Amino acid sequence: MTATVSRVAILISGTGSNMCSILDAGNNEDWPAEFALVLADRPEATGLEKARARGVTTKMVHFRKFRGRRAEFDQELLRQLQDERIDWVVLAGFMRILSSEFLDAFPGRVLNIHPSLLPNYPGLNTHTRVLEAGDAVHGCTVHLVSEQLDMGPVLGQAEVPVLAGDTAETLRIRVLEQEHILYPEVVRRAICGQLLSDAQAADSGGKAETR
Ligand code: GRF
Repeated sequence: MTATVSRVAILISGTGSNMCSILDAGNNEDWPAEFALVLADRPEATGLEKARARGVTTKMVHFRKFRGRRAEFDQELLRQLQDERIDWVVLAGFMRILSSEFLDAFPGRVLNIHPSLLPNYPGLNTHTRVLEAGDAVHGCTVHLVSEQLDMGPVLGQAEVPVLAGDTAETLRIRVLEQEHILYPEVVRRAICGQLLSDAQAADSGGKAETR
């Protein structure tokens, strides 16, 4: 019997280093996934070229052309993903908040990575905020995407100690190193069905996976 292969889209806005870590892991291991599409919301996203270099189809839905028409932007994103018969949506530095209409099309199948130990520090500038708070531990979180920013059920986390002399940039680099290890593994396990039943049973923000 042939295993079902999920069609995965990765959505980016920028450099796409997490996207690369997932594509490279997916190519080197026995993943039940086909990376059918990398889609960016802006032409400057340098990750697009990296995806093409890895032989992945790319598309761009330019958000600036939809100014004041967020619903239409989401509808166009959805149309592009449905054209490619996408099963899973992996956000990797994608800087847009998705509507409930979009999320309803992929129930429990939209993942994101965030550079903090959620529920601490949703939103931007997490490394600076961790330093300002004097925290001893920082990290990253993979979670299911809900309509509320950075608030869906947690699928996995990795911790990073805050060291004496750390700056936002040194922290960013060390957290990103952990993101590149954590995200591919959580994506793989989610697609294999090893995570979602626990996560969906958990309340929003509840932890469903070990670190
Ligand atoms: C990462 O820090 C990720 O946690 C956040 O956006 C950044 C994306 O970086 N959501 P990259 O484009 O994957 O290099």
